[in-house]
Amino acid sequence: MNTNRLKGIEVCVFDAYGTLFDVSSVARASQAALGEHWQALSDLWRSKQLQYTWLRAVSGHHADFWKVTEEALEFALRTLRIQHPGLRDQLMDAYLKIQAYPETKPTLERLHRAGLKTAVLSNGTPAMLKAAVTNAGLNTLLDRILSVESVGVFKPHPKVYELACTQFGVTPDKICFVSSNGWDAYSAQAYGFQVLWCNRFDQMPEQIPDTPRGEITTLAELPAWLGMH
Ligand code: LAC
Repeated sequence: MNTNRLKGIEVCVFDAYGTLFDVSSVARASQAALGEHWQALSDLWRSKQLQYTWLRAVSGHHADFWKVTEEALEFALRTLRIQHPGLRDQLMDAYLKIQAYPETKPTLERLHRAGLKTAVLSNGTPAMLKAAVTNAGLNTLLDRILSVESVGVFKPHPKVYELACTQFGVTPDKICFVSSNGWDAYSAQAYGFQVLWCNRFDQMPEQIPDTPRGEITTLAELPAWLGMH
């Protein structure tokens, strides 16, 4: 029994990339072309993609996540000196078919059966998110697919987190926000959500505001935090 369980939760809001969906599945799908470099490409692509979102948010030069993802891929391919005809388009296309983690669907089904509202809140464009959700068969399990494109700035700008409150008409404390990205989890807690950090890769605590309410290692641990047995 989880004695720290979250109370008063009406909505569960999930980050997409890294949380519901396995980012490494994108480059892994092109392993035949990338060979031993697939993991290095995957890691550099992801870290550059996130850096570019933060730089664009701070500088006020917003571009959507599809463009930022393409630009980060270009950087990563050049850095690792990977040249392969058609590979860039193949990798971008794979982003639309990104794999959900194995426990994603069963967990969403449990929340849905328990009558909780659910949503995705992500940097992804509406088209990217719709494709990923549809490909993973999650359409009927999510009440809303919320994209930062509605507010024109990336996470962790508070306007992004506010979007979930306005869409569901609730105060932040009624929302359980789940992200595997430490910086996103900490920043969402600072905004006022009750946050669970899905620390899949046993990462060290971030040193930014504010410490999440709890940590889980996979989404399968979420129902217990909400008092479901
Ligand atoms: C997202 C990024 C942070 O889905 O993974 O918003």
